Amino acid sequence: MDTARSALAASIPALDSPMAGAFRGRHILSIKQFDRSDLAHVMRVAHQMRVTVDLVGSIDLLKGRLLANLFYEPSTRTSSSFNAAMKRLGGDVVSINEVRYSSVAKGETLADTIRTLESYVDVVVLRHPVVGAAAEAASVARKPIINAGDGAGEHPTQALLDLFTITEELGRVEGLNVTLCGDLKYGRTVHSLARLLALFGVPLKLVSPESLRMPSAVRADLTAMGATFSEHDSLEPVLGASDVLYVTRVQKERFDDVAAYEAVANAYVINRDVMAKAKDKMIVMHPFPRVNEITTEVDSDPRAAYFRQIEYGLYVRMAILAMVLGRA
Ligand code: NCD
Repeated sequence: MDTARSALAASIPALDSPMAGAFRGRHILSIKQFDRSDLAHVMRVAHQMRVTVDLVGSIDLLKGRLLANLFYEPSTRTSSSFNAAMKRLGGDVVSINEVRYSSVAKGETLADTIRTLESYVDVVVLRHPVVGAAAEAASVARKPIINAGDGAGEHPTQALLDLFTITEELGRVEGLNVTLCGDLKYGRTVHSLARLLALFGVPLKLVSPESLRMPSAVRADLTAMGATFSEHDSLEPVLGASDVLYVTRVQKERFDDVAAYEAVANAYVINRDVMAKAKDKMIVMHPFPRVNEITTEVDSDPRAAYFRQIEYGLYVRMAILAMVLGRA
């Protein structure tokens, strides 16, 4: 097994690729940093990580390296997948998941917290409620910062895992019809994903209540990239042609007013009847957590890709860490 392990470790960095090392020491703040060849490299390395985990579980690629998981907002998947990814690559993790119990509760600034943590570790994964917080952290940091969600801003590593999900499940991304449905205003995952899909010329159907439309800054980026998109109130007219239906949670925590949240909370519910109108070969994705947007009766439908999507997140985060720490 040790020979298999070292052979895999040697094959992962894809050192023959012109991309090798391009992300070493770099912050990952926005999906806008990635071009098509970067994305192809991430997908290749992530696929290699999938094979590796399947074969041997973990390797020593990042042995001796430390990651800090700094989460100012709740998280299940993002924090634990970065944790698992680092450990499966042989590294270790310092976690601050409850900033309430850290010096943040005493009024410490983000800059001071970042400067402290980077004194101990090699890379910092940051989730924060304020748009631009990851960029602010990066402006004072010597070590790479990975944006794990900055308020209603972006969630670039989620978009990378979403792309990996589409390519692993459907074999390609070009030529597909993708529908993004739900809270497009506050949902940071769709802000990153829409920009990423625009790079592939994927036509987007944006389905949301009027009050939760895709922000103008994202729409302007899509237009500047030459992407075609259309906005809809109802899923009905676009569902039948969708190869990917990406559903998001209405982001309750971003609303000032409970009544405004309640007015749109259950705008779309994907259940068995809705799925009956979708293509036979398509996938349903969701970044999770889900609330009421997809009923549990859909879980057993082979087109429900969201639990597989969660697993793909591990491989993509392994790839990102290997790249940022200079090993892929
Ligand atoms: C999302 C997030 O935090 O933006 N979750 C995740 O990271 N997978 C989506 C959400 O909270 O609705």
